[in-house]
Amino acid sequence: MTPPISSRLHPLAGRRALVTGGGSGIGRATARVFAEAGATVMVADIDPTNATTVTEELRGEGFEAHQHVLDVGDPVAVEQLVKELRERLGGVDVVVNAAGQPTAYREGTPLEIWQRGIDQTLTSVMIVSRACIPMLVDGGGSIVNVSSIAAFGGSPDIAWYAAAKAGVLSLTRSLAVELGPRGVRVNAVCPGLTMTPRVTHLWEDAAVRDTFIEQTPLRKIARPDDIAEAILFLASDRTAGQITGTHLLVDGGAASTKM
Ligand SMILES: NC(=O)c1ccc[n+]([C@@H]2O[C@H](COP(=O)([O-])OP(=O)(O)OC[C@H]3O[C@@H](n4cnc5c(N)ncnc54)[C@H](O)[C@@H]3O)[C@@H](O)[C@H]2O)c1
Repeated sequence: MTPPISSRLHPLAGRRALVTGGGSGIGRATARVFAEAGATVMVADIDPTNATTVTEELRGEGFEAHQHVLDVGDPVAVEQLVKELRERLGGVDVVVNAAGQPTAYREGTPLEIWQRGIDQTLTSVMIVSRACIPMLVDGGGSIVNVSSIAAFGGSPDIAWYAAAKAGVLSLTRSLAVELGPRGVRVNAVCPGLTMTPRVTHLWEDAAVRDTFIEQTPLRKIARPDDIAEAILFLASDRTAGQITGTHLLVDGGAASTKM
């Protein structure tokens, strides 16, 4: 049964949302928060098990959810996703680029690591966004990209990640300038450390966790829902109708200690 709709409680009522990386962590929390906000959700993920689990869970609670398995770095696969969005949802209004490969994945030469990282983390955001633009301009949609606090600092161990996430912010601004006149808003969130499966090695290790907590003014690590609520705020025209080309740090104040 479809949940009751009221626009204040359901800021995405009647909207169709694509969430890449929707099978886990921040994307998974976003898919749920969006569904609760009234959206029909397309969960797109490279991991079929994750995608199915999230979609079935949402459907079981009466929400309208669909799934699509793909690698967001593959332009041909993304075209197939667009086809599916048109056929099954009749288009898309909100795009959340949350898919992200683990930073611990470091197979190959330094150049291969760099190229794969940039492709998966930055170029994929461009590919998915570009492919969806024709549908978004039809209905005044919005894009929310998931960048990172890493975009603002030096991260010698994962330079590709910091560079790609800074690139995501730059791309966000360029798309906002390009698409604003056509009624499409483009923004980004920059999470600090968030308790997702991707970075279990950071927040499950008590010593590492305590260090992060000490360096965070709010003295706590984000939950995926904290990031998802910020994404919802930026995605909805009701709450962020005059906001585009910007980013929202969701880091418990951690970045402020370094500025
Ligand atoms: N967790 C953190 O501390 C943190 C901090 C800052 C930014 N981020 C960013 O948040 C986003 C989500 O990360 P998370 O922590 O929720 O990770 P996660 O591993 O829990 O979820 C990422 C999801 O993306 C999917 N995915 C990975 N590569 C893909 C691809 N090529 N195509 C389609 N799907 C793919 C994975 O299967 C997974 O379901 C990432 O962009 C990450 O860089 C996370």
